[in-house]
Order: sequence, then C-alpha cells, then structure tokens
Amino acid sequence: MTLHPDPYRAPDRQPDPLKMVEGLEDRGRTPTQVRLRRRFLAFAGIRSGWKVLEVGSGSGVVCRDVAALVGESGRVIGVDPSRVFVREARRLARQNGLGSRVRFELGDGRRLRFSDDAFDATLAVTVLLHVPDADRLLGDMIRVTRPGGIVAVQDQDFGTLALDHPDPALTQRIFEGVARKIYADPWSGRTLPRKLSALGLDSVRLLTDVYQDTTFEPWTRTFLLRRAENAVKWKIVSERQAERWLAGIEARAYAKTFLMTLNFYGVVGVKPRERPR
Ligand SMILES: C[S@@+](CC[C@H](N)C(=O)[O-])C[C@H]1O[C@@H](n2cnc3c(N)ncnc32)[C@H](O)[C@@H]1O
Repeated sequence: MTLHPDPYRAPDRQPDPLKMVEGLEDRGRTPTQVRLRRRFLAFAGIRSGWKVLEVGSGSGVVCRDVAALVGESGRVIGVDPSRVFVREARRLARQNGLGSRVRFELGDGRRLRFSDDAFDATLAVTVLLHVPDADRLLGDMIRVTRPGGIVAVQDQDFGTLALDHPDPALTQRIFEGVARKIYADPWSGRTLPRKLSALGLDSVRLLTDVYQDTTFEPWTRTFLLRRAENAVKWKIVSERQAERWLAGIEARAYAKTFLMTLNFYGVVGVKPRERPR
C-alpha cells in the first residue's frame, strides 16, 4: 500500500521513525519553540495537581513540560497511535526523571478509551492539521474533559509561513504546493477558535504566537530541506529549481540575514457545566 505524503499519518510505517523522534526533539529544544510552547501552556492555565491528557503526544516534549506544571500531585497521560513514539516517549520521560508522573499509551485521538469527564484539561499540540477528521478528535477530547475543565489546542498555519528569499514566487510555489499535498488542513491554525466555539466550548480565547528564526536553527534547516525534496518528488519544481532555492537560503544564512516566521494559533475553551442541548 502506498504511504500518505504526511509521515505523521503513519509514523511507524516510515523508513526511519526514530529519525522523526529526533526531529520532534530537535524542534522541542529549539529556543523559540520552547518559548512558544511554554507561553501556550501558561495561557491554557494548567494548574498544580491537575490530571491532563495530551492527544498526539509524539516523543513527549509537551507532556514533559506539563509534568512540571502539574507537579508531584498531578498526572499527565500522552496518547499517540505510533508504537515507536510511545516507546521513545516513555524512555525520554524516564531519562528526565518523570517516569512516575507521565504515562504514555497507544491510541487514536478519535476513539479515546477514557471515560467521560476524566481529565481537568485535554491538549493537542500541532496534531489537528495532520488529522483528516479533526472535529471527531476534538469531540472526543471534549467528552473526556470534566465540565469546567479546559480543552487547549495549538496548530501552525502554513498559510502564514514567510521566508525572506531572493525568489519569492518560487518560495510561494514550494511552500503552497508541498503544504497542500501533506496536511489534512494546512490552514488549521486560523480555524481553531471557530471550531472550538462551534463544538460548544465556552470562553474561547486565542493566543497567536510566532515561530521566528533569524539564526537558521538546525530544525529550520531540516524543515526547508524536506520542503525542497518533497517539491521535487511531487513535481512541484524541477531539481535545478530546488537546488537554486536551497542555495538562496544558504546565501541568506551566510550573510546572516536569514529570516523565517510561522504563526502558531493557541486556542483554549472551557467545557460548559451544563451541556448545550
Ligand atoms: C507533529 S507531531 C506533534 C507531537 C507533539 N504534540 C509535539 O508537539 O511535540 C503530530 C503527532 O500527532 C500524532 N497523530 C497523528 N494522527 C493522530 C490521531 N488520529 N490521534 C492521535 N494522534 C495522532 C502523530 O503520531 C504525532 O505524534
């Protein structure tokens, strides 16, 4: 069977899922990512002692941060459909001394095995844009959140990806063509406040944050290299055009004028105490 272009649809069937774990960890430690992840978690208002679920927990970057917020008396559970990610997330949590506070389980966010109202907060960070039936996943997150508890989601929006490049038209062609092919919804970020309100959450709040890279971080380099490779693979541009595009990026980095930004939309809603009829 052919693989979907989005590797996050089936990480375990990719040639090297451990490389994806490395990519998630790389992104997780990139300073501007650390800042925007922690700002989002602070905005969500996670409290000490809470029981929190992260859907699509990957290698556990977010769960490890949440563990620090909920403290010794709190609990964090990460759910992910990838066996490799779950295994590596457990290993990394143990390595960080968080084995007793964070647990990882195999599962699909659209069919959670937890009972209704089981969590104080549920989170999904850079997950919804990968999921074809995102409303179903959100619906199940809401189901397992207690009344008065919070549902918090954060997604990039690839319509806001901006790179200062000598060839803006070529850049746009690569960015748009590749994003359309990979993601279930490349523009998921901007839709989140509307979606959470439509699903009946109260007090929906938005924090728009920006991934800003002016130093050409290793994660950004890999991200742009993959964009170029995929653009060639999917015949969006020729090999020569991709090479020229990458050379343009390297030139900016060499001149210390590199600049890439991407908006992240963080949205938080409260599950009503009385369910809407
Ligand atoms: C880009 S990663 C984000 C991982 C983590 N939240 C983070 O920010 O580091 C997307 C994650 O969504 C997971 N995922 C994909 N489809 C899913 C689904 N239907 N239910 C739950 N998780 C899913 C993938 O396995 C992957 O771990």
